[in-house]
Amino acid sequence: MSSTFAVTVQPAACMRGRVRPPGDKSISHRYAMLAAIADGPSMIHGYSTGADCASTLHCLRALGVPIEQIKRDRATGIQLEILGVQMRGLHPPGAPLDAGNSGSTMRMLAGILAAHPFSATMTGDSSLRRRPMRRIIVPLERMGARFTSDDGRPPLTILGTDRLEGIDFQPDVPSAQVKSAVLFAGLHAGGITRVVEPVPTRDHSERALVAFGAQVLRAGTSVAIRGGQRLLGGTFHVPGDISSAAFWMVAAAALPGSDVTIEHVGLNPSRTGIIDVLQRMGAQIKTAEAPAQAGEPIGTVQVRHAGLQPAEIAPHEVPGVIDELPVLAALATHGGELSVSGAQELRVKESDRISALAEGLRLMGGQIDEQPDGFHVRGRARLRGGEVDAKNDHRLAMAFAIAALGATGPTIIHDAGAAGVSYPEFFTVLESLRA
Ligand code: S3P
Repeated sequence: MSSTFAVTVQPAACMRGRVRPPGDKSISHRYAMLAAIADGPSMIHGYSTGADCASTLHCLRALGVPIEQIKRDRATGIQLEILGVQMRGLHPPGAPLDAGNSGSTMRMLAGILAAHPFSATMTGDSSLRRRPMRRIIVPLERMGARFTSDDGRPPLTILGTDRLEGIDFQPDVPSAQVKSAVLFAGLHAGGITRVVEPVPTRDHSERALVAFGAQVLRAGTSVAIRGGQRLLGGTFHVPGDISSAAFWMVAAAALPGSDVTIEHVGLNPSRTGIIDVLQRMGAQIKTAEAPAQAGEPIGTVQVRHAGLQPAEIAPHEVPGVIDELPVLAALATHGGELSVSGAQELRVKESDRISALAEGLRLMGGQIDEQPDGFHVRGRARLRGGEVDAKNDHRLAMAFAIAALGATGPTIIHDAGAAGVSYPEFFTVLESLRA
């Protein structure tokens, strides 16, 4: 979603209160896609209210999947009923599929479309059309599908086949989307499909496949699936998104006197890197786990300000905090210091997140050095605020807002509506937490 409206964020003294974040974006995409190809109906509670997850539903509907929104409310998000069309039951779309801003929709759905014997074109907004797709084209072609693309970028046309063959695949970039695309194709392929990751990435697909009744074999950083297994629909509850909660965790860690509790948030260990980094940076954090749902740990996290320490994030930690790096940079502007390396993937996210982040923070008066694979922020003097552009990138819009809370003056964030891609309620919640 691209939105041109601007928001002015005023500095804040501190942040206090309780928040229930929107449904996890990564898990919402996976539940919708797997429910679509399962046997029987699925009821999904707490589906993400973000535009990215709406793009997945839009594409699935265009592929003939009956999806009904049962209800939508602010506290618990969206409840959906999806009538599974079974494996290989998708219909050829009548027009190109629009994945909007969502890389997850395009990459993971490509894995499923690779197993359908028809041609489907997927495109998206100007940000998505710049993003690299060769990382899924290469393994899915090895399995037997055929692709055309704009030199490795969208639009992508997938010519699927009902004769995919399993492969052993070692991606050269750590990417949960790539792993998932290959596993979803592997579910439909002959024999075993195995992905061996260079560094472990979020494992929601593995857990979701098991929750839908498939067998997944995991050993170290290797995950394998036997083709031909059927999925069974059911009732699923999506945990709150820790990547959305991260904005409030950081705001609480940044501002003296803050105390924020996040409820019903996903605590999958492949996503809790943000908690480790915040503790290293000095925040006082308490977590309480509730019973897991569909194999996904859930709980409550309370964050209190307790000073800020300098920190480094090493390359092996990057996949665990990839989406939180912009807001961690914002945290460092509140009087901390943060150095990140091995994060070159940031350059091919919804924007070039290294240069757009550096540009925005500098416009607010921040000190940030840009490197090819990371950045170094020194929060020696308070930001003054100013005017920044989120560049059609939801996480930058929200990270600039959290940096702005510590500035001496107001900050105008252009393209702030981009936040709606993952967290449409963000600016309302921000105002409600000011104390
Ligand atoms: C995601 C994986 C990450 C992340 C993205 C969501 C997922 O992307 O940045 O927001 O749901 O699997 P990559 O797989 O490209 O690293």
